[in-house]
Parts: sequence; structure tokens; C-alpha cells
Amino acid sequence: MDWGLKNRLSQIIKPQDNRALMLAVDHGYFLGPTEKLENPKKVIAPLLKYCDSLMVTRGIQRTCVPATTNTPMVLRVSGGSSIIGEDLSQEEITVSIQDAIRLNASALAMSIFVGSKYEHQTIVNLGKLVSKAEKYGIPVLAVTAVGKELGKDARYLSLACRIAAEQGAHIVKTYYCENFEKVVQSCPVPIIVAGGKKIPERDALQLTYNSIKGGAVGVDMGRNIWQSEHPVEMIKAVRTIVHGNSTVDQAYAYYKKLVSEGPKNKPNQNKPNQNKPNTTKK
Ligand code: R5P
Repeated sequence: MDWGLKNRLSQIIKPQDNRALMLAVDHGYFLGPTEKLENPKKVIAPLLKYCDSLMVTRGIQRTCVPATTNTPMVLRVSGGSSIIGEDLSQEEITVSIQDAIRLNASALAMSIFVGSKYEHQTIVNLGKLVSKAEKYGIPVLAVTAVGKELGKDARYLSLACRIAAEQGAHIVKTYYCENFEKVVQSCPVPIIVAGGKKIPERDALQLTYNSIKGGAVGVDMGRNIWQSEHPVEMIKAVRTIVHGNSTVDQAYAYYKKLVSEGPKNKPNQNKPNQNKPNTTKK
């Protein structure tokens, strides 16, 4: 692996513990201004310092993320369909490698839709993207299994993740499922788990814990953080599992403690807490 590729990967999957906390805010590329993500700038600002990397589209990166940030960007480069369109799986690569470089992307992200009408197109696009990105030492994150019509079971997810890895993806994002260990074992590259639809905070912490325990390097969580009533408290609690090895009970107790201490969602109120578990990013 070339130095640049290794270096970029290490910005996303932290070498200290081989774990990753990615904050996903790319949903608007097919969902539009979805609930609680109407104003991405407001969502991102207080959370940016608590994630290891931020997953965004180029439009949101340019308009809503300060260029002075040290947080690595995982740039979504696929799109072309909307939630009300004909078929969500009909995606193409929409961002050039030159623009990704201008945006200083630490990784490129795109979806493949295994088992869908546009399976062939998206898998071929992944292979082509890896070839282009590797030329410049940029890793590719393949997003698998988006789409409600496909079962999210170990057999299907193993198929999708393995195909992504075979095409050269450097990280694969998928969903947690029963027998998740099997998905991890048959995928030769690191797996990161998507949070999925909003569920109660404790359940999202359990999902995080199960994913890590099952062999994922971390989570790429969106809605379960920024659709929470307490996004900052939630990302801090998720962090204690990803980087602090907290149990679900410990993480949830920490979340409740932070919430009970008062309104924390304003950026200037998120001061370091001496009593918290060891979860700071830097
Ligand atoms: C889906 O295609 C998007 O890439 C999201 O980034 C992904 O689903 C993770 O977000 P959430 O935790 O909300 O599912």
C-alpha cells in the first residue's frame, strides 16, 4: 500500500485502537432536507470535533463545513437518484477525482446495489473508481445494502461486502445483522456499520456495541446521532464504546448523565468533562 493511501486510511481508522467513528451526513443526496438535517451547517458544527471523520457530499462540504477543520472528509461521489424517483439503485459517479483532491478528501464513498436492477452498473463503477482513486492514493469506502427491498441477513450482506472488497474497496460499510461475525470473517477489508433508521438511544448504543464486538472497526452513524434529541451527548456516548470499550450500560449511563447536566448542544457549551471516560479525539 502506498504511503498516501496508508496515511489517509489511518485518518479514518485510528491506528491507536484500529477503530473508527464516522459521522454520516450525506443523506441529502437522495433524501433532500430530511428530518433534523434541514440545516446541515447547524447539525455539523457541534458534532465535528467528536467524530474521527465526516461523510458528506461535496455541496455540503463546501457550504457547511469550515475549511479550517482538522476532521478528515469522506466524500460521497455517487448519486443520480432520489427517494421519489424511479429506482434508487440507478447511481453513477458524480464527482471527478480532481474535485475530490481539491476538497482534500481522505476517502471517497459510493454505493453498490447488489441484487438490484442496477447492480452491474454500480459494481463496475466501484471497480473504476478504485482504479482512479488508487492512482492518487485515495481509499474508497463502498456502501452496501441500501434499499429496503433486500433482506439484511448475513448471507446477503456477506455477498455484498465480499463483492465490494473483491472490486478493491478499502473499507466496506454495511448493516449489522444476526451472525454478523460471518459477514466480517468473509470480508478481507475493514467493515464499518451504518446506524440505520432512528431507534431509541440505548438501542443505538447496543447496535454500536454489537457491531464492534462482532468485528466491525466502527460505525458510520447518522440519524441515530443527529435525529436524537441530544446529538452531542449521543455522539459522545457512542464514542465511549468505539474508542473507550464501554459497555452499553456504561455508555447509556454516560449519555443520561450528560443529558441531565443540562443543555449541551450549543457548540460553546461542549467543554471537556473531567469525569468522562477516555474518549477525546485528539
Ligand atoms: C446511506 O446511503 C448513507 O450513506 C448514510 O450515510 C448511511 O446510511 C449511514 O447513515 P445512518 O446511520 O443514518 O443509516
